[in-house]
Amino acid sequence: MICFGYVRRKVEQEYEGKTIENLLIVAQNIEQILDIMNEKDVIDRIYINFCNPWPRPKHKKKRLTHTKQLEKYKVFLSDGAEVYFKTDDDGLFDDSIKYFEESGFEILNKTYDLHKEPIWENNIITEHEKMFSDDGIKIKALIAKNKREDI
Ligand SMILES: C[S@@+](CC[C@H](N)C(=O)[O-])C[C@H]1O[C@@H](n2cnc3c(N)ncnc32)[C@H](O)[C@@H]1O
Repeated sequence: MICFGYVRRKVEQEYEGKTIENLLIVAQNIEQILDIMNEKDVIDRIYINFCNPWPRPKHKKKRLTHTKQLEKYKVFLSDGAEVYFKTDDDGLFDDSIKYFEESGFEILNKTYDLHKEPIWENNIITEHEKMFSDDGIKIKALIAKNKREDI
């Protein structure tokens, strides 16, 4: 269940009463992302945080970093746009490196221990990130740069 009220209240709390003009909260299955986004949208950055690892071979296509999904993101990502991805899951991380490369992204940086070896500034620790790192699981992360072939 997606609770928009909860998300809205959390954001308002962070903004401490300031006007929020750059936020749109949507509920959409990523597989149908092109129903709401197209080439007229120009997105410079995507964050993918702790998406479901879908470890069974027959389910891997559902991963948010699978080539099938990356090809869809490319429709609205600008040339040079970056995807910031982090996960607790080793299998998902290693496969995702291949997915990004297969889809023509360049891996700018990667780490198998984000908290010890930060690859970006001001990392915001998500709910799942706290849960996994409190359990001693290292956080894997990468930054992948989009290279558009159509321009
Ligand atoms: C483990 S939670 C991550 C929660 C949060 N990002 C964090 O780091 O604490 C995985 C999220 O991915 C979303 N998700 C999984 N498959 C999806 C899909 N096909 N389309 C859209 N969202 C999806 C789920 O709804 C869930 O909210």
